[in-house]
Amino acid sequence: MRKILITGANGMLAKAVREKFKENQLICTDVEELDITNLEQVEEFVEKEKPEYIINCAAFTAVDKAEECYDLAEKINAQGPKNLALAAEKVDATLVHISTDYVFDGDLDITKSYTEQDKTAPVTVYGITKRHGEEAVEQNCKKYYIFRTAWLYGDGNNFIRTMLKLGKEKEEVSVVNDQHGSPTYSVDLANIIYQAMEKKIPYGIYHATNQGFTTWYELTKKIYELESLSCRVKPVTSEEFVRPAKRPKNSMLSKEKLLAQGVQIPNWEDAVQRYLKEENARVK
Ligand SMILES: NC(=O)c1ccc[n+]([C@@H]2O[C@H](COP(=O)([O-])OP(=O)(O)OC[C@H]3O[C@@H](n4cnc5c(N)ncnc54)[C@H](OP(=O)(O)O)[C@@H]3O)[C@@H](O)[C@H]2O)c1
Repeated sequence: MRKILITGANGMLAKAVREKFKENQLICTDVEELDITNLEQVEEFVEKEKPEYIINCAAFTAVDKAEECYDLAEKINAQGPKNLALAAEKVDATLVHISTDYVFDGDLDITKSYTEQDKTAPVTVYGITKRHGEEAVEQNCKKYYIFRTAWLYGDGNNFIRTMLKLGKEKEEVSVVNDQHGSPTYSVDLANIIYQAMEKKIPYGIYHATNQGFTTWYELTKKIYELESLSCRVKPVTSEEFVRPAKRPKNSMLSKEKLLAQGVQIPNWEDAVQRYLKEENARVK
């Protein structure tokens, strides 16, 4: 039984983390109980509770909106993790922080995937502020894990939920087919965090997504096939689907470092099937 502080506890990943760690003594806080951008509040709270682990699920995750809100995104994605790192260091807690493929520019040749050693080069406000968050954690506490994930879905608004809705309403949807990555089930990411803690793997940065790679177009086709939806899926390019924040063409993260520690990571197709079962049960 561990004492674990979970921040941003009503978010999509946090729900899966809470379920995975439910046998432990959990302190679940969202912004009302603990605003991670407030150093004084964070230090006071952490010193009082003295958790063994802090799992930071709080973030500013609206990628397009972030382009117009640099200061707020920086506050939540960089100052927040810094405050948690400073507080964790004071009570000798381990900080588990979640980051993103957006710390890379996404221009790597698609025959390759990014490793933890690759140079970061974020090109969006979200990516820049998340990279600042990683740096703040690295510089302000010794006992930390940073898990970079991508294309996350779970119990919350996400791509699969949107495509399911559209697939039931429309005859055809257009989906980009030139962005490559790994759809990642929040339940599987929570399980990766759990295994890392159980195995006491070395502190540091790890890439943590489901295994295997695909495109948003192929993912949509898979969802409709599994759900027997007749909606047609039309492949389009990123240039035909411009968004305020540039999407990385290559979001593929190599999991070799995590796998070398004996961490089990399911394939994305298997994960999507499990998710759809859960999602269908939730709607019923
Ligand atoms: N979603 C993805 O596709 C994706 C991809 C790669 C990486 N990630 C990373 O994975 C992590 C989890 O993402 P998610 O999708 O689960 O996020 P999410 O659902 O947006 O949840 C984030 C939570 O943080 C809370 N929060 C915001 N500001 C806060 C503050 N100042 N203090 C405390 N809590 C605050 C939010 O509360 P409000 O809702 O009230 O603002 C929300 O409950 C994040 O670090 C994200 O950057 C996500």
